[in-house]
Amino acid sequence: MYRNTPPTIHLKDYRPPEFLIDRVELRFELDAEVTRVEALLQMRRNPAATRGDGDLHLDGEQLELEHVAIDGRPLPPAEYRVESEALILHHVPDRFRLETRVRIHPMLNTALEGLYQSGTLLCTQCEAQGFRRITYFLDRPDVMACYTTTLVADKGRYPVLLANGNPAGTEDLGDGRHLARWEDPFPKPSYLFALVAGDLHEVADRFTTASGRDVALRLYVEPENHDKCDHAMRSLKKAMRWDEERYGREYDLDVYLIVAVGHFNMGAMENKGLNVFNAKYVLARPDTATDQDFLGIEGVIAHEYFHNWTGNRITCRDWFQLSLKEGFTVYRDQEFSADMGSRDVKRIADVRTLRARQFPEDAGPLAHPVRPESYIEINNFYTATVYEKGAELVRMQVLLLGPEVFRRATDLYFTRHDGAAVTIEDFVRCMEEASGRDLTQFMRWYSQAGTPELTVTDDWDAADGVYTLTFRQQTAPSANHPSLGPLHIPVAIGLLDGAGRDLPLRIAEDTAEPPSGTRVLELRREEATYRFVGLRARPVPSLLRGFSAPVRVRYDYSDDDLMFLMAHDSDGFNRWDAAQTLAQRLLLRLVAEPEAAVPEGFVAAFRRALTDHEADPALRAEVLKLPSEAHLGEQMAIVDVDGIHRAREGLKQAILAALRDEFRAAYEDHRDAGPYELTPAAIGRRALKNLALGYLMQDGDAEAVDLCTAQFEAGTNMTDVIAALGLLVDAGGAPAERALDTFYRRWSGDPLVLDKWFAVQAASKRPDALARVEALLGHEAFTLRNPNRLRSLVGVFCNLNPVRFHAADGAGYRFLGDRVLELDPLNPQMASRLLQALARWRCYDPDRQARMRAQLERILDAVELSKDVYEVASKTLG
Ligand code: PHE
Ligand code: ZN
Repeated sequence: MYRNTPPTIHLKDYRPPEFLIDRVELRFELDAEVTRVEALLQMRRNPAATRGDGDLHLDGEQLELEHVAIDGRPLPPAEYRVESEALILHHVPDRFRLETRVRIHPMLNTALEGLYQSGTLLCTQCEAQGFRRITYFLDRPDVMACYTTTLVADKGRYPVLLANGNPAGTEDLGDGRHLARWEDPFPKPSYLFALVAGDLHEVADRFTTASGRDVALRLYVEPENHDKCDHAMRSLKKAMRWDEERYGREYDLDVYLIVAVGHFNMGAMENKGLNVFNAKYVLARPDTATDQDFLGIEGVIAHEYFHNWTGNRITCRDWFQLSLKEGFTVYRDQEFSADMGSRDVKRIADVRTLRARQFPEDAGPLAHPVRPESYIEINNFYTATVYEKGAELVRMQVLLLGPEVFRRATDLYFTRHDGAAVTIEDFVRCMEEASGRDLTQFMRWYSQAGTPELTVTDDWDAADGVYTLTFRQQTAPSANHPSLGPLHIPVAIGLLDGAGRDLPLRIAEDTAEPPSGTRVLELRREEATYRFVGLRARPVPSLLRGFSAPVRVRYDYSDDDLMFLMAHDSDGFNRWDAAQTLAQRLLLRLVAEPEAAVPEGFVAAFRRALTDHEADPALRAEVLKLPSEAHLGEQMAIVDVDGIHRAREGLKQAILAALRDEFRAAYEDHRDAGPYELTPAAIGRRALKNLALGYLMQDGDAEAVDLCTAQFEAGTNMTDVIAALGLLVDAGGAPAERALDTFYRRWSGDPLVLDKWFAVQAASKRPDALARVEALLGHEAFTLRNPNRLRSLVGVFCNLNPVRFHAADGAGYRFLGDRVLELDPLNPQMASRLLQALARWRCYDPDRQARMRAQLERILDAVELSKDVYEVASKTLG
């Protein structure tokens, strides 16, 4: 058991820092075993703070202090105290120069926070509180300073030396070492500090900003990856241009550097002028990366670039405001990707993610508002709620303000708060001032946990031609999160006539000409009724177009209505959503009644979608993809693990039986005709072709296996290869083993591709999946110490293979418990993330509940537990 319960940090306890730091000069003597860090901090009392006990508390963890001096005078032991997480200096002057020197050990750093080794490189990760593992500091985002960094290292092992800001000279020290100096003129919080040292290949390009400044762009990768950088560089230039055009934001330094590293806990990090990336979000060639990988790279490169204004120039006052930078930046990268590719496809993908990850989080024991009120370990709050729901809150404000007013509001935000550490209120106040609107009620969205439910009922008055829609909103209160009252919800709707055309949306009280097409209703009360007048026949409502708010809608559509919307809604997102609702409803019926028939109308609707040659293949593929097992489970009070799997497999089988010829034709018609292209159209064709192949493989038909094997062996691009490999592995037998073997021999030297080899086996629906995963733990290429490898095997099994992970005997849970305990001493962040696969334990049958609870209790009983895992385990048990 965790003996000293770690403290909870509360938003309400926020106090401004007692001291400020104006300048930081750092000097590193870099070495993998022992690195020395000298810090010179120009400090003064904060005039805006209340005076404490006169002591200065600096954050520091795992540091070996060698020297401490104030204004050049070394401190005697009586004047300071070293604690396990702090350096406390007694009675310091109001303004002074603090000097410290510490030793740290990058090679022993398996948590990948602070300065660590990845392969032969040295690199840093400081968000959220990694800087305190590098030097003693006021490690909080509202302390912003200008940094100068000097790096000293062996020339042979570390020929490239990088830090934040602009380069400010290099020197050969003559003794086999060299030195590089970097100056960052923009004040920044410590979490944006970074350095990288190593033998790196450089890919160089340039960008001229709108005002004519020349920026050097450089990508650094390990030498063997030199030919996988084009896409990332192209994406960066597109993002830079887009931010100028859409937000009027220009880049500000002379250089923009991106380094790809093999060991990284997250996707990437926006350190000022020196982004450090998980290699997965940089490296791509058509033969090594899938279409989804390419899109992921474009999005993450843009995301980190956009942070330069939303996060770096303007940062967060405290970590409770995390969504200020993350929600807004996710919204920005989503819009960028929508502009670069297909808007509807992007929206569908984003809503899928929100429903798959954020809705369950918001319904479980780890639910928290977009702006949390408390935490034990901030690393546990880099969540789908803070990121993806946070982005939805910004999206709703854009909808409420309209694009032009929103742009004026962001202009105001950027001028007013440049160089400052601010709060979510500061952001919303800019929205209010630019629009003249009152967003007081809207602010509840930031404090209210849980997904609101919107129940819609309607009524048709044929005599008067009046159609009435009534909306009732409710957010289920939970123990920790009371309901704050009704939310301000923008609901975009349309009304369709019998031919599927949008009707004018005239409300009785309207004075101006009403919109035809889409109208945004603003719900503010628990219940709201709208009377649409001047209608000739009962319309079909299209509700929550474009997913205009992160809510669940309950409306009693008939199957015919859904098929009608699927075919006719002018809103592309809602056409897809109607198909999802229809399939979900049928699947849930099949779970309850395994013998129920698949209605003819359903098959016909799927046939129409599959063979509609006018429609975008990418959208057709989305429509034909059945809701995931996890998503279906979320709709049930008690998840029927095996019933869901059986129903979904059975429905695929039934669809195949009815549409085999159509799937064959779709497969043939959408093969790449010419060379590989990365256009949205080509991506869409591959998606539909591989979806068709997936259905064709559903009954293990020999002809389909041949098709699949041929596609695998042709090996023209990774999208097609991995799709075929996954299907072969699901089918099992000799063809699967041969393909796995071929793939391994071809790609064992490429870690990112090898991750896919582990992942397809972990995701396999074969009954022996867990046995295979356990055997793979012992594979020479497996290691818990690489987060990508860990995610591809253990993470995929526990999160993306529900039927095997939730096996009734509890073996999957025991497997997870073992891994969490093994991982926690090495990398608490990864251990805690993995443990979250048990968050929804209360939604299972008593037997499974007991087995999951046993693992949670076993973990909580461990002698030494990180704060990360302690917080998740204790809150999950509740
Ligand atoms: N701030 C990073 C991003 O959103 C994510 C991150 C958080 C990376 C913490 C590392 C550590 O882009
Ligand atoms: Zn981010």
